[in-house]
Amino acid sequence: MVFPWLSRLLVPALAATSLVSATATLPYAEPRSPNSTGKTCVVEPSPKRCRRDDVPRILEAFRECNHGGTVVFPEGKEYYIAQRLNPTLYDVTIEWRGTWLFSDDLDYWRNNSYPIAFQNHAAGFVITGDRIHIDGHGTGGINGSGNTWYTAEAGATQPGRPMPMVLWNVSDVKIEHCKPLPSGTVRLHVTYLLNRGDHLQVSIVQPPLWSLNIMNGTDIWVDDLYVNATALDAPYGKNWVQNTDGFDTMDARNVMLTNFVYQVATMPSLSSLGPTTSIARMQITVHGGNGIAIGSLGQYKEDSSVANVVVKDVQILTNNKDMHNMAYIKTWTGEEVMQKGYESGSQPRGGGWGEVKNILFENFYVDGSASGPSINQDSGANSTTKGTSNMLISNVAWVNITGEIIAKTANRTAAVSCSQRRPCYDIEMREISLKPSADAPAMGANGECFYVAPGGIHGMTGEGCE
Ligand SMILES: *[C@@H]1O[C@H](CO)[C@@H](O)[C@H](O)[C@H]1NC(C)=O
Ligand SMILES: *[C@@H]1O[C@H](CO)[C@@H](O)[C@H](O)[C@H]1NC(C)=O
Ligand SMILES: *[C@@H]1O[C@H](CO)[C@@H](O)[C@H](O)[C@H]1NC(C)=O
Ligand SMILES: *[C@@H]1O[C@H](CO)[C@@H](O)[C@H](O)[C@H]1NC(C)=O
Ligand SMILES: *[C@@H]1O[C@H](CO)[C@@H](O)[C@H](O)[C@H]1NC(C)=O
Ligand SMILES: *[C@@H]1O[C@H](CO)[C@@H](O)[C@H](O)[C@H]1NC(C)=O
Ligand SMILES: *[C@@H]1O[C@H](CO)[C@@H](O)[C@H](O)[C@H]1NC(C)=O
Ligand SMILES: *[C@@H]1O[C@H](CO)[C@@H](O)[C@H](O)[C@H]1NC(C)=O
Ligand SMILES: *[C@@H]1O[C@H](CO)[C@@H](O)[C@H](O)[C@H]1NC(C)=O
Repeated sequence: MVFPWLSRLLVPALAATSLVSATATLPYAEPRSPNSTGKTCVVEPSPKRCRRDDVPRILEAFRECNHGGTVVFPEGKEYYIAQRLNPTLYDVTIEWRGTWLFSDDLDYWRNNSYPIAFQNHAAGFVITGDRIHIDGHGTGGINGSGNTWYTAEAGATQPGRPMPMVLWNVSDVKIEHCKPLPSGTVRLHVTYLLNRGDHLQVSIVQPPLWSLNIMNGTDIWVDDLYVNATALDAPYGKNWVQNTDGFDTMDARNVMLTNFVYQVATMPSLSSLGPTTSIARMQITVHGGNGIAIGSLGQYKEDSSVANVVVKDVQILTNNKDMHNMAYIKTWTGEEVMQKGYESGSQPRGGGWGEVKNILFENFYVDGSASGPSINQDSGANSTTKGTSNMLISNVAWVNITGEIIAKTANRTAAVSCSQRRPCYDIEMREISLKPSADAPAMGANGECFYVAPGGIHGMTGEGCE
């Protein structure tokens, strides 16, 4: 299936410089549907008044209805998830109408979550397998009991917070239609979500860590995903929800995300696209968050390439004027540098390699992020390693970006800092019209450029850019 908007928008907009042309011709293969034997397993939760871990009965249903069955979590039912689980499913349909509530037994999760090598993270619920269809029917979702974590850690992430949903070693997965938005919220902002207005549905609320993470997956479509990570007890202006990304992919190919609503309160963390080799193709609609990240890439000594990503029709809306980014690419430097902190486990990090190419960010409305389009290849740097990234960035375009940012430096609406070793090229800023502050006139992409190939930037003014 080729989405008409791809060829319509990419080819005329970018033919002049043949940017992102590869993206226009890549077909998106819809996930294959599960085979069905007609067998159905309805899961009843333990009664609320004597609540017990519902994981054993959930696993029993997955076993019973594996290979062709349908597992049903009826509407209005709440399932208590008090232990980690990793079902391997083939040809399974899940009617996920009820809610999974993660236990708030921090001790248990810290000791028992599945470890994820990347950034020292962990997971609580992992799905593995092929041909899996999850349909939330407008009511289903996960409550990760994240607020207990946000309050306990008060902004300082410690190991063991479980991601509430990870797809790991999967292919042909479709997830759609989970919980609708509470009435009265964000409807205002939904008017041009791919013309599908009212169709915002799957939910993950209170994720302890990243919300939905795809690791080593192919042929995946996530439609109507709603994520809300709100730290209910955080003092105004404090970020207690770091690492509550909305949607991440690593080693993923042929992935589509549509109708995605992401909301965090207090300072938002990333809604990001992590290291992704081979083709990841995405059509994303986001509300809120810290913008869209391709990165951080090259944190480990391995190929961290990302190619062929389309991010389109996005609104970036600040909460409490605390939003940092809009849509950016970031990589680590090419030398390993000793790091502090949880994500690096106090190890030296950086030194990865590869290419980032064929990336399109298009039709963004921005309200209140601190930066506009940006590339930065200096993650993890110390004063001597800036500009040493081994990752080459090329064929990247920001097109039709409007709205208002709160720039730290006057008139700076964009920023590009690449690599002396592998200077970036074919970076295009087109139809950019951003107010650098509320009372300034809108302007095009303007800022500083470092370590770009001669003539490598188009449509941006400023020192080093022309
Ligand atoms: C399911 O269908 C595929 C073709 O779509 C077939 O290759 C596979 O053998 C089927 N699996 C089962 C369990 O019937
Ligand atoms: C978690 O591990 C700690 C340290 O090993 C131990 O003291 C604690 O009892 C464990 N808690 C659970 C719930 O396993
Ligand atoms: C999530 O679950 C917690 C614990 O039961 C509850 O207090 C909270 O209201 C739930 N959040 C949502 C958004 O349903
Ligand atoms: C995914 O596959 C890798 C490589 O075979 C394996 O090491 C890992 O345990 C698998 N993960 C899961 C959740 O099955
Ligand atoms: C990726 O997943 C497939 C199964 O879907 C597995 O065979 C392979 O080993 C996994 N690779 C890695 C690197 O995890
Ligand atoms: C997110 O959750 C918070 C707290 O429950 C709520 O106030 C807010 O309206 C929610 N946001 C959206 C977009 O639903
Ligand atoms: C920066 O890190 C590099 C690589 O580890 C090291 O060689 C260099 O001495 C460090 N420089 C400073 C100023 O810390
Ligand atoms: C530019 O993006 C805005 C959304 O931010 C959209 O309404 C408008 O139609 C887009 N313009 C074009 C020419 O596609
Ligand atoms: C910013 O741009 C405006 C007009 O575009 C100009 O008048 C002003 O001097 C600029 N400010 C700085 C600090 O460069």
